[in-house]
Amino acid sequence: MEFENKIINGDVLEVMKKIPDNSIHLAITSPPYNVGKDYDNHNDKMDYQEYLNWLNEVWKETQRVLVPGGRFALNIAPTGIKDFVPIHHDFTNQLRKLGMKFRTEIIWYKQTMLKRTAWGSWKSPANPHVVPSWEYVLVFTKNGDKLFGNPKEADITADEFKEFSDGFWQIQPERQRNGHPAPFPEDLIYRLIKFYSYKGNIVLDMFGGTGTVAVVSHKTDRKFIHIDISKEYCKTAKDRLEKIKGGMSQQKINQ
Ligand SMILES: C[S@@+](CC[C@H](N)C(=O)[O-])C[C@H]1O[C@@H](n2cnc3c(N)ncnc32)[C@H](O)[C@@H]1O
Repeated sequence: MEFENKIINGDVLEVMKKIPDNSIHLAITSPPYNVGKDYDNHNDKMDYQEYLNWLNEVWKETQRVLVPGGRFALNIAPTGIKDFVPIHHDFTNQLRKLGMKFRTEIIWYKQTMLKRTAWGSWKSPANPHVVPSWEYVLVFTKNGDKLFGNPKEADITADEFKEFSDGFWQIQPERQRNGHPAPFPEDLIYRLIKFYSYKGNIVLDMFGGTGTVAVVSHKTDRKFIHIDISKEYCKTAKDRLEKIKGGMSQQKINQ
């Protein structure tokens, strides 16, 4: 396919329209959360309904491009502590309305409570705050649960399978930010890719940022499609890929 193993700098909807139907095995993404983060090329404080309508179009495209049995792993967290926005519920409702099956939710526990400052009414039931120290990975499937593939291309180990099938994943947030406000930790993506896809499958990240999904797909012998509107983040993604490609061929020479 034209876009296989490509870092594509462009608007999510414009690019996705060019991806053929039924061609992606696994989509993994984390959209902008609409919380006013300082992205290179995106207004992260849209009117909430406008934001939901925009993403609904992205979900429709995602559903179209997935193969039957294909998976969509959507990373999201409720936003706001005092003014709580259950954005994860809104996305779930949107996707279920489109006919995607809500297969499971994974809790990504980020262990960030040590930095906590927002207590609300300290030591009083007047108005205390609960701070989400976790995010979700919501997993949806298209047209049934089963993803067909060659069993020889299933490369998850027994220990990994046991560990990853417990849906409480303790993973520290990424420290190496590469100039981006919200990159994925590689371990989160590694687990999703190994658990939900076969070697050789195509993995899409339509809000690819600094290319974590592309990098981990390459490392695990999957193909990737990376889309991001920011030239700068796409350049970072390309540089990261070049670096690991260099490292991997050096490893082969050394073996
Ligand atoms: C939460 S970040 C994703 C970070 C990524 N997971 C990583 O590991 O670096 C969301 C990304 O969406 C991109 N974005 C925002 N609007 C977009 C649009 N209309 N089309 C494509 N990408 C967009 C932003 O540039 C940002 O990098």
